[in-house]
Amino acid sequence: MVSLPRESMELEQILKIGLILFFLWSSSCLPVASVVDATGAIRFRNDTDHLSLLAFKDQITHDPLNALSSWNDTIQFCNWKGVTCSWKHKQRVVVLDLGSLGLEGSLSPSIGNLTFLHRLNLGNNNFFSEIPLELGRLRRLKNLILSFNSFQGEIPSNLTYCSELRILALSHNQLTGKIPASIGNLSSLTLLSLHFNHLGGSIPDDIGRLTTLKYFGVGANNLTGTIPSKLYNISSMQEFSVAQNELQGSIPSDIGITLHSLQSLKLSGNQFDGPIPTTLANASRLEVICIPDNHFSGRVPSELGRLRGLHLLNVEQNHLEGGDAKGWEFLDSLTNCSRLTVLSLYDNMLGGMLPNSVVNLSSQLQVLNLGKNHRISGRIPRGIENLANLDWFTFDDNLFTGAIPESIGKLVRLERLGLSSNRFTGQIPVSLGNLTLLTELYLEQNNLQGPISPSLGKLQHLSILDLSTNRLT
Ligand SMILES: *[C@@H]1O[C@H](CO)[C@@H](O)[C@H](O)[C@H]1NC(C)=O
Ligand SMILES: *[C@@H]1O[C@H](CO)[C@@H](O)[C@H](O)[C@H]1NC(C)=O
Ligand SMILES: *[C@@H]1O[C@H](CO)[C@@H](O)[C@H](O)[C@H]1NC(C)=O
Ligand SMILES: *[C@@H]1O[C@H](CO)[C@@H](O)[C@H](O)[C@H]1NC(C)=O
Ligand SMILES: *[C@@H]1O[C@H](CO)[C@@H](O)[C@H](O)[C@H]1NC(C)=O
Ligand SMILES: *[C@@H]1O[C@H](CO)[C@@H](O)[C@H](O)[C@H]1NC(C)=O
Ligand SMILES: *[C@@H]1O[C@H](CO)[C@@H](O)[C@H](O)[C@H]1NC(C)=O
Ligand SMILES: *[C@@H]1O[C@H](CO)[C@@H](O)[C@H](O)[C@H]1NC(C)=O
Ligand SMILES: *[C@@H]1O[C@H](CO)[C@@H](O)[C@H](O)[C@H]1NC(C)=O
Repeated sequence: MVSLPRESMELEQILKIGLILFFLWSSSCLPVASVVDATGAIRFRNDTDHLSLLAFKDQITHDPLNALSSWNDTIQFCNWKGVTCSWKHKQRVVVLDLGSLGLEGSLSPSIGNLTFLHRLNLGNNNFFSEIPLELGRLRRLKNLILSFNSFQGEIPSNLTYCSELRILALSHNQLTGKIPASIGNLSSLTLLSLHFNHLGGSIPDDIGRLTTLKYFGVGANNLTGTIPSKLYNISSMQEFSVAQNELQGSIPSDIGITLHSLQSLKLSGNQFDGPIPTTLANASRLEVICIPDNHFSGRVPSELGRLRGLHLLNVEQNHLEGGDAKGWEFLDSLTNCSRLTVLSLYDNMLGGMLPNSVVNLSSQLQVLNLGKNHRISGRIPRGIENLANLDWFTFDDNLFTGAIPESIGKLVRLERLGLSSNRFTGQIPVSLGNLTLLTELYLEQNNLQGPISPSLGKLQHLSILDLSTNRLT
């Protein structure tokens, strides 16, 4: 027998399957129209993918936007909504993009038959099954996006066979169990997003083998233990996000040198301790340092002022200290961060005189929170109106003295002004009536005197006003 060239063999295969199917379908009394098109010609297709898609559709119990109504046999399956077929292998599905369609149901294991799939996006729907092990058969898969669903059960360790994976996004589901060490085999992974699940146990050492990772997100789970030190060696890392877990340990002092590409560091709501490493300033692209609700101690490093792109510095609820000029040097240095939008030092152990340089912080600053440090003293400095974009200004629970300056009325974008539990004296400034966006005004527990300015009547959006425990008349 003469051997056929490869292409003809494939063609023959397709013909055979097409013909067999024709007979199967006609004998089972399904409308022949689905196999014979309008021109009367038999339409040959790769029925593995066709049947896989039908089996997928079969498991969808609710389709509120009728997204899958086009998935019928009046058109070829490569033209169904969300389906893209290979340009070369015409009957093979390479992309299934069905994000944000309100689809509800389970994910059919038949998905594992779409073996040419490069990209599977079912993000932001209501899938509630387990993640099928059959996904491990998708050897060509690069992007797997199942975020924002209700997937249950464990992360299938079979995903280790999807060795081409770049993006693995499983965040915002109901996943339980541990993070499989075998994810460490996915050597091309750039994004690993597992946050907002119920994952427990520790972060496996093997994750440190993902040397091309740019985004590591495991926040809002129940992870315990320390961060494997190898993770701090992934020099491609841009976003490192482990917030809201039960992680502990200190942060390596050279983090900003080993993770020199870091743009965002989110450690909030854990039990990290030790100092804030000064080398963070070496990661010159850092924009977000969000580390509240931990046990960090020592000073806020003044080196952080070298981060010209710093956008958010939130160190709330730690044990940071600094009662003298040295301890406040960081504030002077932060005046160089012209994009700073949020600075929160709330609930630490800072004390001593607030430097006047606070008025030279970025005019883009929206949140300035120094509350609940108990021991910060000084006055609200002249020039505070420079911070013209502030919408949160909170100095509560400290030792501030002097009068509340009239110029505070120039911060017309303020929504929340908290000056309670200090030692402010004098009258309530009439200019507060200009802060027409104010929703919360806390002036209680001070030594304010005199009449309550009628101008406060202009504050139409005010929902909380506390003037108690003063000497107002
Ligand atoms: C998918 O493949 C499995 C074998 O892995 C097979 O049993 C099943 O019939 C296939 N399903 C479809 C819809 O093609
Ligand atoms: C089948 O899909 C076509 C193309 O989107 C659509 O016009 C038609 O209404 C669909 N038929 C059914 C029965 O949903
Ligand atoms: C897991 O993946 C492997 C490798 O692709 C595959 O052979 C196996 O069938 C998959 N397991 C299941 C249950 O599908
Ligand atoms: C994946 O990683 C695990 C543990 O890290 C290892 O034992 C296993 O052999 C690896 N499997 C593959 C298919 O690479
Ligand atoms: C973490 O575990 C505790 C106790 O087992 C549980 O109450 C809590 O809901 C879990 N949190 C998450 C995010 O899974
Ligand atoms: C990090 O990388 C450096 C340099 O390649 C190496 O010396 C060190 O052992 C690595 N640390 C870890 C914990 O892998
Ligand atoms: C980190 O920054 C400091 C201060 O500018 C500098 O002296 C040091 O050389 C930097 N380290 C590295 C490894 O770039
Ligand atoms: C701000 O940056 C300039 C230029 O690099 C530097 O000379 C100055 O000392 C910095 N100011 C503070 C307060 O760190
Ligand atoms: C604020 O900046 C201005 C202009 O750069 C400077 O003249 C002034 O001394 C600074 N004020 C404080 C308190 O640092």
